[in-house]
Amino acid sequence: MYRLPALEPVRPLRRIALLTSGGDAPGMNAAIRAVVRSARTEGVDVLGYSRGFTGLVNGDMRPLTSASVASILHRGGTQLKSDRCDAFREAPVRWQCAEQLREMEIDGLVVIGGDGSLTGARLLYEETGFPVIGIPATIDNDIQGSDETIGFDTAVNTALDAIDRIRDTANSHERLFLVEVMGRNSGFIAAQAGIAGGAELILVPERRIDLDQVCRSLRESRESGKASSSIILVAEGRKPGRTQRLAQALEERGHEPRLCILGHTQRGGNPTGRDRVLASCLGTMAVAYLANGQQGVMLGIQDRAVVAVPLAAIGERQQLDPSMLDLALTLQR
Ligand code: F6P
Repeated sequence: MYRLPALEPVRPLRRIALLTSGGDAPGMNAAIRAVVRSARTEGVDVLGYSRGFTGLVNGDMRPLTSASVASILHRGGTQLKSDRCDAFREAPVRWQCAEQLREMEIDGLVVIGGDGSLTGARLLYEETGFPVIGIPATIDNDIQGSDETIGFDTAVNTALDAIDRIRDTANSHERLFLVEVMGRNSGFIAAQAGIAGGAELILVPERRIDLDQVCRSLRESRESGKASSSIILVAEGRKPGRTQRLAQALEERGHEPRLCILGHTQRGGNPTGRDRVLASCLGTMAVAYLANGQQGVMLGIQDRAVVAVPLAAIGERQQLDPSMLDLALTLQR
């Protein structure tokens, strides 16, 4: 559960808009529902743009009502569809979008997405002054300013379910498995699912793979007699084929790894209870913050409370705490 700030409505809202952008994340639908229902409760009209910023650029939107967001709370994906929009990288395009939003008498835009989407939201706000509120939604959990992002918990549990299954067959055959999870730039999923799944090693993009150390760990783990099977959890990293290359290198050193790439299975599926509650809180508070006159902020979680962080203050990606990886290693010894 989260603590929600009590905010006074100081700015009457007539109409707001929202969009989901970037890689989808389980819980985006719950956030859409929360924005729509909390706005409609106050008599505020809501427009939903399709396919993220692409819909904004093309003026592709539709009115959303409380009824139109019924039965989506538990569904993965996003009812509004999502996209990575190259056109929105151009400043003149952002100006046109702001003009269009003003012409339509929209009082604020809620952007639900990850790193790139929040950057788009920040630029729109900074350059045009149009009121924007960001909601962090990405399975990667790498947004600075929020301890949690919508979709992370579900992705970890999806990966964990797969790891547990793989562990059964790995034990039966006393095998080594490499399991690849998502995380092009960050190892949050790998670290969390690896610790929870008892992985023998966790390899994240933040640390270079040391093949000698991997082989040493595998040997030690077998020799200690503690494990008859081994699971190495590998975050996909920036360069495609990272895990395949590792498998090949291990084969060349006499190991017989089996490879399982979980890929986009981690992006889909019903959101966990935790993600549904997080999305419901952030979606509801986005409307409250807009009505409170705040703009150019992202809502996040810090110390279990919903907080507003200026979009301008969100810099580099949130970094994985290395002590989590050390903890995983300690538990394998
Ligand atoms: O949503 C974040 C993320 O899942 C990354 O972990 C991954 O590298 C990337 O998106 C892949 O996205 P796509 O296949 O949509 O380009």
